[in-house]
Amino acid sequence: MPTGSLQLDYANALSPAIGPAHGLTPGEVQRAARSVRDIVRQIERERRDGQHAYRELPTDRELLKTVQAAARRRRAGLKNLVVLGIGGSALGNIALQTALNPPLHNLLPDRRRRGPRLFVVDNIDPVQFADLLELLRPELNRTLFNVISKSGETAETAAQFLIVRELLARRLGARALPKRIVVTTDPQSGILRALAEQHGWPTLPVPPGVGGRFSVLSAVGLFSAALCGIRIERLLAGAAWTSARAAEPNVRRNPAAMLALLLHAFYTRGKRLHVLFPYSYQLKDLADWYRQLWAESLGKQRDLAGRPTVVGPTPIRALGATDQHSQVQLYREGPNDKVFIFLEVERFATDVRIPRARGTPPELSYLQGSSLGRLLRAEKRATEAALVASQRPCLTIRFPRVTEETVGQFIMLWEAATTIMGRLLNINPYDQPAVQLGKEYTYALMGRNGYERQRAELTRRGRAPARYTV
Ligand code: PA5
Repeated sequence: MPTGSLQLDYANALSPAIGPAHGLTPGEVQRAARSVRDIVRQIERERRDGQHAYRELPTDRELLKTVQAAARRRRAGLKNLVVLGIGGSALGNIALQTALNPPLHNLLPDRRRRGPRLFVVDNIDPVQFADLLELLRPELNRTLFNVISKSGETAETAAQFLIVRELLARRLGARALPKRIVVTTDPQSGILRALAEQHGWPTLPVPPGVGGRFSVLSAVGLFSAALCGIRIERLLAGAAWTSARAAEPNVRRNPAAMLALLLHAFYTRGKRLHVLFPYSYQLKDLADWYRQLWAESLGKQRDLAGRPTVVGPTPIRALGATDQHSQVQLYREGPNDKVFIFLEVERFATDVRIPRARGTPPELSYLQGSSLGRLLRAEKRATEAALVASQRPCLTIRFPRVTEETVGQFIMLWEAATTIMGRLLNINPYDQPAVQLGKEYTYALMGRNGYERQRAELTRRGRAPARYTV
């Protein structure tokens, strides 16, 4: 076991804590454990046939060496790293950076940062993008753009890329491009791959069989992490540990299976809103990453045999303590249709003491001599206890500390749980057919050839507006 492992605590999801109407009975958990055992065995057999390829990433030494070497080559003199990507090609990068580098990383002076400043631009807001380019303009020759797109043709990333390529060529000359661009894409196919090969831009692979939202432990997430000083070998070691445990048919030794089992059992009881509630700034963007993984993987209208179905838990992100002052009223007194998954940190990397000072009003004296970390932990325990008092099921994923190892464990925990949950819901967690139509309409509205039918459809619909001026 690595020093410091995550813990999954589910006592407050069981009937002794919140009563049989809302809590799972130990018998129910035991029965579900039997079916999950067969699922785990099946998944392990499929892994031997090359399926679930994301599970092999943590032990892929070649991948580690490639990414580390690429990061080493680019580090010297680099001031800014800009990731252009969206969805699975960005959320993991953001999450790793927030979890494992100082909150004010980008504001630190060069000598105090472990790598370049990092900007992950996962949107196409023109005001935001223009502002960033303005900031970078004087430092373009110390800036690297990592364009990430598995398909190579996502409109948002393609648009950003075209803007950046023109800017670089205009300001630094076309010959500078291979020094300022790294393309992360499919190793064989796609427009970006073809362009990179044509122009000699360096590339990193998105491994075959690994979908965007499962790709954070590939070059997609690892390159920016390594460049910014995150010890990716430790991240992978943590993930490898959890992946090995996810192969265990015995659910008691397999936290990913237990997590899936519990959330599925609540799902079948009508608790279909899954709130991930980190009590740590460092973990807040992992909640966004989880939201995509859980939503895009599990919301499906066809089962594995292609028959109609409608399934999918809704993942929600909350942040402690902030959202206690925004959401908890609903969470305690609104519909009992949610499961709360708290993220708790036992020891924060740093803590801030609340000083004793003369003249402090007696009503505030309980805070004196304590610390923000202690207060935040107390608030988590208090909020959970209040939810339990309202018979709301609560799980806790406890981080002894936020380190590369525990973050790696967390990522693999949810990825493996997603695969198992997919099986329990009898759907394919690796596709996202419903995203396609919106993409096609975007192409149609932007005048892409081949999308005339969709354009006509949209024009027809636009004829009967129903709107007010407010
Ligand atoms: O999980 C997924 O597959 C998606 O969220 C993709 O990551 C996202 O659409 C971006 O796709 P691409 O990397 O092909 O640009």
